[in-house]
Amino acid sequence: MVARVNTVAFQGIEVKPVDVQVQLSGGLPAFNIVGLPDKAVAESKERVRAALHALGLSLPPKRLTVNMAPADLSKEGSHFDLPIALGLLGAMGIIPKEELEEYVVLGELSLDATIRPVSGVLPTAIYANENKRNLICPKICGGEAAWAGELDILAPHDLLQLINHIKGAQVLSRPEAAIAEGEALHIPDLSEVKGQETAKRALEVAAAGGHNLLLIGPPGSGKSMLASCLPGILPPLSPKEALELSMVHSLAGILPEGGLVRHRPFRAPHHSASQPALIGGGQKVKPGEISLAHNGVLFLDELPEFSRATLEALRQPLETGDALVARANAHIRYPANFQLIAAMNPCRCGYLGDPEMECTKAPRCGLDYQSKISGPLMDRIDICVEVPPVSVIELQDIAAGEPSEKIAARIAAARQIQEDRFAARENHTRSRINARADGKILEEITVMEPEAKDLLNRFAEQNRLSARGYHRVLRVARTIADLNGGADRLGKNEISEAISYRRVGLKS
Ligand SMILES: Nc1ncnc2c1ncn2[C@@H]1O[C@H](COP(=O)(O)OP(=O)(O)OP(=O)(O)O)[C@@H](O)[C@H]1O
Ligand SMILES: [Mg+2]
Repeated sequence: MVARVNTVAFQGIEVKPVDVQVQLSGGLPAFNIVGLPDKAVAESKERVRAALHALGLSLPPKRLTVNMAPADLSKEGSHFDLPIALGLLGAMGIIPKEELEEYVVLGELSLDATIRPVSGVLPTAIYANENKRNLICPKICGGEAAWAGELDILAPHDLLQLINHIKGAQVLSRPEAAIAEGEALHIPDLSEVKGQETAKRALEVAAAGGHNLLLIGPPGSGKSMLASCLPGILPPLSPKEALELSMVHSLAGILPEGGLVRHRPFRAPHHSASQPALIGGGQKVKPGEISLAHNGVLFLDELPEFSRATLEALRQPLETGDALVARANAHIRYPANFQLIAAMNPCRCGYLGDPEMECTKAPRCGLDYQSKISGPLMDRIDICVEVPPVSVIELQDIAAGEPSEKIAARIAAARQIQEDRFAARENHTRSRINARADGKILEEITVMEPEAKDLLNRFAEQNRLSARGYHRVLRVARTIADLNGGADRLGKNEISEAISYRRVGLKS
């Protein structure tokens, strides 16, 4: 007598079907789980046994075998408890086995039979909906599952509620789709930053087109402060972007209150972050910071302090928008379409170029410090601006600048122009922002006036601009034009501003 329950395993963002088969047979009493389970899955038999005991049920004195097919797919996580328990209940004849066939099941069991939240409910719900199945998930995760579509969702608080529903003694209603409000973080307003007009403008251009930005300046000039203002001016997430991001956050198990993410992510990992923490991976593969920043911003403060290997590992995701984690038995992919915002001092003492303050090792120390950022990584930075120190007099005298709200409105308008432009070209669904435009579409949207072209050609020749650098200048110029109303052709002004943001070689 075999009872079967459908569940899933995760490989990156991909959902793989897993068939949990439970058999009761004669022989000495035993309880075995086979099918490449990891430690959390192997421990699941203790939780299942205790949860059934809490309901007043004891396991039959028989040989219980749980097989998780396919056997060559490794099963990680604690969400297999509920499918195993339901399979057992089916095999024991407590619930009708055929009732379970149409459901995909995931959930972790406590010893008292309550069902604990697990990660990955949203991608599972989307998978179930696509495969015309329904879903059983923990109560707290019901809010995220409900976004997946019309599928039927059971989100019980505990195992008893679920058994009663299946047997018709109680009805569980479908959970409501929820939005996570998230914590109310204090975001400083850009009007609080005194002076620094060039840096503010660069921040606006970067936010409008999704360009990578590097702020360089002495200590205390306001680099971290400028970057922390960014969440206040970023455009809101579109519904599609919110769903994509929520899938990643769901897999990482950080979706707050089981609802969809509403705000564009702003992730600021500390410079001691390891490569798996940033890119993804680890013993139990999880999305890294770059994937948690999908469709949003990754802020790396004190850029040269990150380990060299970690920084170099950013190169591929910055180009492709994906994080690929290679494992011995699988290649795992997470989306990582993020915008890099970084800040650094020009040298170790921080005061390079200031004759009063710089240390005796200048300019050598500046070259050493800046060369920690490799050429290829620097080539991927579209906008690089210097953030000079502000004097105390300036701090006291300069009137408050433009509030974030006004800047955010200009950015939102520029994003709308981009959205409409890319939507009009249906075969180019990949890019929705200028920073991701490439190939033929980039050529189409960056036609230049003759004098603008001359200017760019001269600059490219003098500074030996790479092909990537050339395209990046064009993308930034496109965004500047979009901030000015979205003219079809790029003029000299747009190109010269974009060129001024391009860093060529090391500065000392
Ligand atoms: N332009 C500015 N306008 C107003 N306040 C400023 C400005 N620059 C710095 N400050 C003040 O100085 C504090 C420190 O600034 P911030 O942390 O941004 O410096 P930083 O450039 O990141 O320095 P470091 O290189 O040491 O990290 C801010 O919290 C703010 O109080
Ligand atoms: Mg700082």
